[in-house]
Amino acid sequence: MDVISGYVPLKRKGNSYFGCCPFHNEKTPSFSVSRDRQMYYCFGCGAGGNVYTFLMEYENLSFQEAIRTLAERAGVELPKEEISAEEKRAGDYRAMLREINREAARYFYGVLKSPRGKRGYDYLIRRGITPETIVQFGLGFSDIYRDDLYRYLKQKKYTDQQIKDSGLVTIEEKGIHDKFWNRVMYPIFDVNNRVIGFGGRVLGEGTPKYLNSPETAVFDKSRNLYGLNRARSSRKGNLIICEGYMDVIAMHQAGFTNAVASLGTALTEPHAALLRRYTQDVILAYDSDGAGVRAALRAIPILKRAGLSVRVLDMQPYKDPDEFMKQLGKDEFEQRIRKAVSSFMYEAQKLADEYDQNDPESRTSFQHALAKKLAGIPEKLERDNYTEAVANQYQMAVRDLEKLVNVYGSAGVPQTPSGRGAGEGRRQKERKEEGKNMPQRILLTWMVHEPSLFETLREYVGPEDFMEPADHKIAEMLFRQYEQSGQIEPAMAMDLFSELEEQKNVAAILNTKLDVPVLPEDRSKALTDIVRKVKLAGIEARLSQSTDIAKWQELIKEKANLQKLHIFV
Ligand code: UTP
Ligand code: MN
Repeated sequence: MDVISGYVPLKRKGNSYFGCCPFHNEKTPSFSVSRDRQMYYCFGCGAGGNVYTFLMEYENLSFQEAIRTLAERAGVELPKEEISAEEKRAGDYRAMLREINREAARYFYGVLKSPRGKRGYDYLIRRGITPETIVQFGLGFSDIYRDDLYRYLKQKKYTDQQIKDSGLVTIEEKGIHDKFWNRVMYPIFDVNNRVIGFGGRVLGEGTPKYLNSPETAVFDKSRNLYGLNRARSSRKGNLIICEGYMDVIAMHQAGFTNAVASLGTALTEPHAALLRRYTQDVILAYDSDGAGVRAALRAIPILKRAGLSVRVLDMQPYKDPDEFMKQLGKDEFEQRIRKAVSSFMYEAQKLADEYDQNDPESRTSFQHALAKKLAGIPEKLERDNYTEAVANQYQMAVRDLEKLVNVYGSAGVPQTPSGRGAGEGRRQKERKEEGKNMPQRILLTWMVHEPSLFETLREYVGPEDFMEPADHKIAEMLFRQYEQSGQIEPAMAMDLFSELEEQKNVAAILNTKLDVPVLPEDRSKALTDIVRKVKLAGIEARLSQSTDIAKWQELIKEKANLQKLHIFV
């Protein structure tokens, strides 16, 4: 209640409080919060839940982040997960580096707002950036002195080594100088709003146009995206990926608060995985030039493999979102978003551009290349739809193209070439899921082979530790059999499932490959190890499902205790 009223103005009405729903656009309040029940519900859009779901939805936090946020606000101490001295030192070191970056951002901002930074300030204003945007993005200016940031940081009591490690200052025999010098500064934030590095742009012409912080213990370019700290809570349903800092800023200023950019590098798999945490749909708004097209063609398979659906936006005749926004404005940009084509149609278009459509021979080659590409779409329905769309687009008879696709589909071209098609991401995920269940399955198989283990293990594990539904069902039955009769009958597990496929799966689960050591101490160690893995997975799963802070504390303790687990057999 107190938390939610911090986000939404609420008015009392009987036992409830009402306000305008933050999850959809409305003018008359249909969003209600009940103090007694500690719940909210929107009569307009059906959004509802408790304070955790609210924060998860509104701030786009994971459950664990939501818990942490609330605990911090309430001043409640959460039990720390036990960490080694080594881990703690590394953590403190990273915190220190982020502090230096934060200090530097403050410093650059101060300079920008002072007479010394007037040239930088004027430059930004001239490029159409408003004073509010400057504040929102914490933009700054690095002065023409060679080492003023260094001196500022020294005054803040950082050591030379610490300053050097931040990558913001070069400290060598020859001398000491700031890395950024006479540039407009763009602080780079991680998703938790912590400054981890900078991009710096020259005023006007000059090379390099942008200089970026080197990678440090806190700045990993392939795992961070510019603007994601703001875009993650934009609630637009998708994220727009562009190329540059200025594009992101111009887009946010125009209301497209879902824009992000990679940090002077190509898009990587970790980037795609990061994006996938916040959305299922991305729109590429890369520059319209050749480099932008190549970057888009490289990014598409990476994004698709991560399970994202990808569309591509056309900004012609302008080069990038920043220029487009200046020339045509946001309404026109909104139109372009609406007209953005699926990545497949985009790839087909770029393929078409490579061939001379008026030359019969070249056109035939194009059609073959197209068919080959279509044959790579694993799902039939999707493949058929694209076959039809592409045939219409490039004036071919659907039947003819279909036949050609089938030729490629049956001529030894794998139906699911790696890296292509939406199904691939899912299959990789399934494989990963299977891997995750391995300890559970090894343990179940081991117990079935040596029922005497039940007596020892029932103290440590139970069916609740087996999260995957089939594993859980089997474990439940086995433990019950043992409790009731002191014996187990694994074959009865089959009867729990009606479908043949499921029964085959049971057989597979209870026949997982075992490599049981012979020596008692090795056996004990192996068993402890596997039980620990099973418990850990169970605890993690419950942590992510639990909505009760007390339960959460208990689980964290349980997790810490796992380290001390020793089972003897
Ligand atoms: P662009 O050259 O397209 O610049 O580089 P831009 O975004 O249009 O910048 P403005 O509008 O001229 O200010 C796109 C991105 O590539 C990286 C930066 O992240 C930049 O935002 N880049 C570019 C560098 O890291 N170094 C460079 O020298 C140039
Ligand atoms: Mn630009």
